[in-house]
Amino acid sequence: MVQSMTHARTRISKAVIPAAGLGTRFLPATKATPKEMLPVVDKPAIQYVVEEAVSAGLSDVLMITGRNKRPLEDHFDRNYELEQALTHKGDESRLAKVQESSDLATMHYVRQGDPRGLGHAVLCAEPHVGDQPFAVLLGDDLIDPRDPLLSRMIEVQEEHGGSVIALMEVDPSQIHLYGSAAILPTTDQDVVRITDLVEKPAAAEAPSSYAVIGRYVLDPAIFGVLNKTKPGRGGEIQLTDALRELAQEGGPDGPVHGVVFHGRRYDTGDRGDYLRAIVRLACERDDLGPDFRSWLRQYVNEEMQA
Ligand code: G1P
Repeated sequence: MVQSMTHARTRISKAVIPAAGLGTRFLPATKATPKEMLPVVDKPAIQYVVEEAVSAGLSDVLMITGRNKRPLEDHFDRNYELEQALTHKGDESRLAKVQESSDLATMHYVRQGDPRGLGHAVLCAEPHVGDQPFAVLLGDDLIDPRDPLLSRMIEVQEEHGGSVIALMEVDPSQIHLYGSAAILPTTDQDVVRITDLVEKPAAAEAPSSYAVIGRYVLDPAIFGVLNKTKPGRGGEIQLTDALRELAQEGGPDGPVHGVVFHGRRYDTGDRGDYLRAIVRLACERDDLGPDFRSWLRQYVNEEMQA
C-alpha cells in the first residue's frame, strides 16, 4: 500500500518501559528487589523486554522507574569489578553474559515520583520522547522472540499513522484483567480499527474478548490527551482511557489500529504464568533443555501415578 505523505515521519527509534510498579504479587521476593529483576531462567525479565525493543530497531530506551529501582540501572550499566574478575579467570563466556546487557541499548531513566497509573507513567516520557511516535513495552508481558509483534506494529503505524495497540483474543472470563477493544476489520487480516476501549470491564460489559496486551506504538498526541485524562479505573490515570479518546475523535492524530497477535506471550506478572514461562523457556534452551526436559518428563509421570 502507498504511504501517504502526511504519515511520512522519521523512523521510530524510542522505546518507553514503565517499571515503577511495586510488584506486590511477588512479595516477599520483591521487598528489596524490583520485580523486573526476577529471573526468567537466568536472565532478568526486563532484559527480555529491552532485547525485544532492540530487535524491533529501537535502540533508545527510556525506563520509567521509582524508588528502590536502582538495580535496574546497575543491570544495564558496566560492572568493571566483575568484568575484571572474569577476564582474570579467562572466563570468556560469562564475561560476554555480563557485558551483553550493558551493550544492548542507550538507556535513559526518569522517576515517576507519584505512581498515578500507566497513563501517568507514559506522560513522564514526554520530555524525552518529544514529537515523534514511540513504542511502549510493559515489563509484565514477555513476547517470544520467535513471534515478532512490535516490528509488525511499527509497520502498521508507518502505514496508517496514529497509534497502534496489540490485541489478543482471551477467554471472556479473563477480560476483566485487561483493556478490552471494540474493533472493525480492515483489509489486512491481522489489523483491526479500534472504535472503543474499556479498561478492565466486567465480562458482561466488555465490548469484545479482544484484550489489550502490553505493547503500544503511540502518536505523540497521546501526551496532550493524557494531560487532560481524569483518573479512571482504580483511581489511576489510564492509558486505555486516553487511547479511547484518540480512537473516537478520529482526527489527524487518530486513528487507533490494533494488531491481533497469535504468537506466544508469557505474563510474568502472574505467579502461575511466571512459572510456566520459566519451564517453557528452560525446555527450549540448548544448554539446559535436554536435561531439564527428561527430568520434567519423569516428574510428570510420577505425578500422574501419585
Ligand atoms: C495494563 C493496561 C491494560 C492492559 C494490560 C496488559 O494493565 O492498563 O489495559 O490490558 O496492562 O498487560 P495492568 O496489567 O498493568 O494492570
